[in-house]
Amino acid sequence: MSLTLTAPQPAPTRQRPAPGAVIAGTGHYVPERRLTNADLEQVMDTSDAWIVERTGIKERRIAAPDETTATMAVRAARTALADAGLTAADVDVCLVATCTPDQILPSTAAFVADSLGLRCGSFDLAAACSGFVYGLVTASALLGTGTMRSALVIGSETISRFLDTSDRSTGMLFGDGAGAAVLVPGPHAGLGGLDSPGLLAWDLGCDGSATGILEVVAGGSRLPTSAATVEANQHVVRMDGREVYRRAVRAVVESVTGTLATAGIEASAIDLFIPHQANARIVDAVLPRLGISPERTFTNIEHYGNTSAASIPIALSEAAAARRIHAGDLVLMTGFGAGMTWASALVRWHGGQPVGADAPCS
Ligand code: ACO
Repeated sequence: MSLTLTAPQPAPTRQRPAPGAVIAGTGHYVPERRLTNADLEQVMDTSDAWIVERTGIKERRIAAPDETTATMAVRAARTALADAGLTAADVDVCLVATCTPDQILPSTAAFVADSLGLRCGSFDLAAACSGFVYGLVTASALLGTGTMRSALVIGSETISRFLDTSDRSTGMLFGDGAGAAVLVPGPHAGLGGLDSPGLLAWDLGCDGSATGILEVVAGGSRLPTSAATVEANQHVVRMDGREVYRRAVRAVVESVTGTLATAGIEASAIDLFIPHQANARIVDAVLPRLGISPERTFTNIEHYGNTSAASIPIALSEAAAARRIHAGDLVLMTGFGAGMTWASALVRWHGGQPVGADAPCS
């Protein structure tokens, strides 16, 4: 006799969690040194007009020799903690999203934790330019356990150290910087409802068949560092720009559409859209497909270029500081990057004083 069981459903990639974690503070840091398009004209066969027309980038920031992914992360984190009215002593978990770590071992988060005086769980998250949104979703889930008072989510990159300065297709695109957010349990944790502040819906994805379109091939276990890999210049970013562009437009449109559908919210309700700042043309291409106007979209790519996992938190921090986000606003963040990964998070902005500092701690 056979027993018929209901087949287990595949885990959905899109989720609408009970609103819980809210973003209580943001901060960012960018290095002082500006590398303008005019500077690049001196070292590679390019022009300001070409770069601005194809990417929207006018300048990017480059880390000083004594700056690293961790040192920039710490500066962004300190600003975010101050903005939240919290201190490092309130942090119960620290996530650093990066694809340009200080070292292979240990994690960049370990260096960050040491500088901030943290002893809580601290780890890196590798999802390239989608990393910060992956981190928001992960931190929100951890806070949802009810055992933590606050989570520090940082996106930080020193991508200039992984560029071939003679490669004009990547050398003009990327810049360095860091952004951070402090998450705390919200006032309505567990109650649900689209009016509650917090993470309303999210979408995470990865198409690993596209690993080859954006990668640093050497330095890992697949191709360990050797004299030959250094000689062949295999420790720098290589990218099939056209293919990334094509897939990015599709991934952003599908991820945003799915996230809004999960929340049951129309694109017209979004108060501020913060896309990954990879290329102004990608943003221009997705906006009409999504029905989101440029006026409701935050961009700063002309100043910083593509800062990978740092791009969304830097933009979020700048938007909050510029009062482009108000209590109760719906903020939609979407990233895409190497992997190929993509990630969206729809957040109802929390407007009052931080509410999580007194929550139970494990
Ligand atoms: N200056 C002048 N000419 C250039 C430059 C440059 N900096 N770079 C490329 N060209 C030339 C090419 O050599 C080519 O010349 P050819 O026709 O004589 O062969 C011509 O311009 C066109 O090249 P394409 O690569 O087709 O240019 P395209 O319009 O696709 O623009 C770009 C290139 C800007 C890289 C674009 O493909 C792009 O933005 N793709 C997405 C990249 C991206 O978003 N990456 C990051 C996402 S994930 C992450 O953030 C980690």
